[in-house]
Amino acid sequence: MSGSLEGRRVLVTGAAGRIGSVATRQLTELGALVTALTIVEDPSLKADRIIVGDTRSEQDVAAALEGVDLVVHLAALAHPTSGTPYDVYTTNVVSTFNVLAQAGALGIDRAVVASSINAYGVPFNPDNVLPAYFPLDENIPTDVADWYSLSKQNDENTARMAWRRWGIDVVSFRFPHVNSAEILTRQAEGMRADPVRGVREAWSYLDTRDAAYAIELGLTAPLSGAHKFFVAAGTTNAPYETESLLDAFAPDVPRLRRFPGRQVPIDLTAVRTVLGFEARYELDLPTHQLEI
Ligand SMILES: NC(=O)c1ccc[n+]([C@@H]2O[C@H](COP(=O)([O-])OP(=O)(O)OC[C@H]3O[C@@H](n4cnc5c(N)ncnc54)[C@H](O)[C@@H]3O)[C@@H](O)[C@H]2O)c1
Repeated sequence: MSGSLEGRRVLVTGAAGRIGSVATRQLTELGALVTALTIVEDPSLKADRIIVGDTRSEQDVAAALEGVDLVVHLAALAHPTSGTPYDVYTTNVVSTFNVLAQAGALGIDRAVVASSINAYGVPFNPDNVLPAYFPLDENIPTDVADWYSLSKQNDENTARMAWRRWGIDVVSFRFPHVNSAEILTRQAEGMRADPVRGVREAWSYLDTRDAAYAIELGLTAPLSGAHKFFVAAGTTNAPYETESLLDAFAPDVPRLRRFPGRQVPIDLTAVRTVLGFEARYELDLPTHQLEI
C-alpha cells in the first residue's frame, strides 16, 4: 500500500499529546479523516471524529476503530516517572496489544506505533552503561533496567506478533527526544554546558513536525511486514563535533565509522531507504571547541 492519505480514515490514539496533536493536524492537512482518541477532553483538538476513551478498554478501542482504514498508535505513559512502574508498564503494553490486536482482527492494513529510542534500554539504565557501539542501529544489543523501556521493547514484539497473526503491516518508530523547535533549542543550550548527558541517546533529537512527517511516511510508504526504525534529525543537539564528543565521553565504545561535523551517531539508513525519511527541521547550531 502506498500513496495519498486523501480521504483515508485514520485513527490517532493519544491525539491530544505532544506528537499526537501535531500528527492529527498534519494528517488532516493532507486530506485524512482523523478519528482522534483521547483520554482527556481537549477543546483545541480538531478532527473529523473525537472519541474520549481509554486505549486499555476493549469497548473504547472498538468504537474508535469503526470504519477506520489506518492506525497511528501514540497513547502511552511516556516516561518511567509518568506513573507507578505498574501503571507505566501495563498502560503501555495493554494499550498497544489492544489496539493492534483489534486492528489486526478487523483486517486493517497498516499501523504506525510509537516505540522509543529507549527500547534499547541504555538511556534509562541506572548503571550508566554505554551503547555496545556507535552508530546505534536497529540491531544494537539491549540492556533494559526500567519498566518504560521494557514496555517499548514489548510493543515492538507485539507489532511483530500482530503482523504474523493477522498480516497487519506495522511501522514502529524508535523516536528520540521529540519536541518543538523552541524547546529543542533550549535543550541544546543545556547540552553545550553539560554534553555528557546526551551520550546514551547519541545526542539525538527530532522536531515534532518531523515526527508527524515520519508518521505520514510510515502510513504511506510501500512496504509489508513489521518494521522498527530509528528516526532522528541527521545532526546532534550538541554544538560540538561528534567525533570530539565520542572521544571525550565514550572513548572505549567501538565506532563502526566516522561521523563528520555534527552528524548524529545513529544509523539512519533503514528509515531513509525504506521510508524515504529525511528531517526537514534541524537545529542550526555553531560548532564550538570541546574543552573538558
Ligand atoms: N516525545 C518524546 O520525546 C518521545 C520519545 C520517544 C517515544 N515517545 C512516544 O511517543 C508517543 C507519544 O508521546 P508524546 O510525547 O506525544 O507523549 P504525551 O504524553 O504528550 O502524549 C501521550 C498521550 O497519550 C494519552 N494517554 C495516556 N494513557 C492513555 C490511555 N490509557 N488511553 C488513552 N490515552 C492515553 C495521554 O493523555 C497523552 O495525551 C508515546 O508512546 C511515547 O512513549 C515520545
